[in-house]
Amino acid sequence: MQDRAKVLVTGSSGNLGRFVLSALDFTPYARNFCIATLSRRAAAARRDRHYRIDLTDREALTECLATFRPTKIIHLAALSSPSEAHKHPQLARAVNVDAVETIAAYAERAGARLMMTSSDYVFDGTLGRPYRETDAAEPQTVYGRSKLAAEAAVLRSGGVVARLSLLHEEGVCATTLQSLIHDARLARRPVSIAADETRSPLRFSDAASALVRLAFLPDRGVFHVSGPERLSPFDIVTRELRATAHVLPVCRIGRDRLMPPARPADVSLDSSKLRAACPDLHFARVAPPVAERAIGQTALDGVAD
Ligand SMILES: NC(=O)c1ccc[n+]([C@@H]2O[C@H](COP(=O)([O-])OP(=O)(O)OC[C@H]3O[C@@H](n4cnc5c(N)ncnc54)[C@H](OP(=O)(O)O)[C@@H]3O)[C@@H](O)[C@H]2O)c1
Repeated sequence: MQDRAKVLVTGSSGNLGRFVLSALDFTPYARNFCIATLSRRAAAARRDRHYRIDLTDREALTECLATFRPTKIIHLAALSSPSEAHKHPQLARAVNVDAVETIAAYAERAGARLMMTSSDYVFDGTLGRPYRETDAAEPQTVYGRSKLAAEAAVLRSGGVVARLSLLHEEGVCATTLQSLIHDARLARRPVSIAADETRSPLRFSDAASALVRLAFLPDRGVFHVSGPERLSPFDIVTRELRATAHVLPVCRIGRDRLMPPARPADVSLDSSKLRAACPDLHFARVAPPVAERAIGQTALDGVAD
């Protein structure tokens, strides 16, 4: 164990965490890793160690870092829902900022490599073109502000920030979009989705591959990790429903009808920097355009404005 890189993956029980653990298993040097996971829930998949702790418990977090002494930290854990962060700003601060400051201080002291996932919500969405890493961040939401504050701590410690766009993948049931579809189907009512919000969504599996690469590159600083298209949540859901032949009416709504308030209009990201650093990474579309799937095209009941 002494010679093996010690990798700590926080947020391992989350949607992205499960994909990151699989991506780690597929790296050529996986057998040289000692992998520990951290979340409040029990370990989702068995690794070398699991720390079942709450990040708001600073003592428990400090103890975990001192005991495991990771050489690489892939920090995914967060209060990841912008609407929940809006409802619970103090919790958002404790989980998304204070805990990161503790981890970043450890990383700096121990010379460990820290990589943290941030969000396209650090931007205000008014630029009118995909954001680059050098563009000014002006978050408009509690969630976005918490992520930007955490970024500062990671960057001060010499770490890497991976700003992700909206993550989506067929079959990942616990995402906001999939939950909306699921609830609407159960209640036999139309699903209402924002059509005036633009992101550059990517698949969980592609994001996980990129994050594992970033965790092992020597580079520091901010990297944007995004998919190949600029789409609204409405575009994503209608494409997916058509492609999977699911029957469900879909209504366009404005983002002003959704929580949190002041959702940014267009936070699509430009990921040229990442593509230049890792030209072999592939980012697939999150859902196929309708024209590419003959089956299921007639399955959507109706699309209301
Ligand atoms: N999903 C997206 O579209 C998206 C987009 C941009 C950025 N991101 C970022 O990507 C990362 C992963 O997102 P995700 O979609 O996987 O989120 P998720 O499914 O909500 O998972 C969040 C993870 O954080 C852990 N966690 C939350 N609060 C915790 C606490 N107090 N103590 C310990 N662990 C805690 C959760 O574990 P327990 O519940 O077991 O504690 C879970 O493993 C987050 O940093 C998120 O901000 C996600």
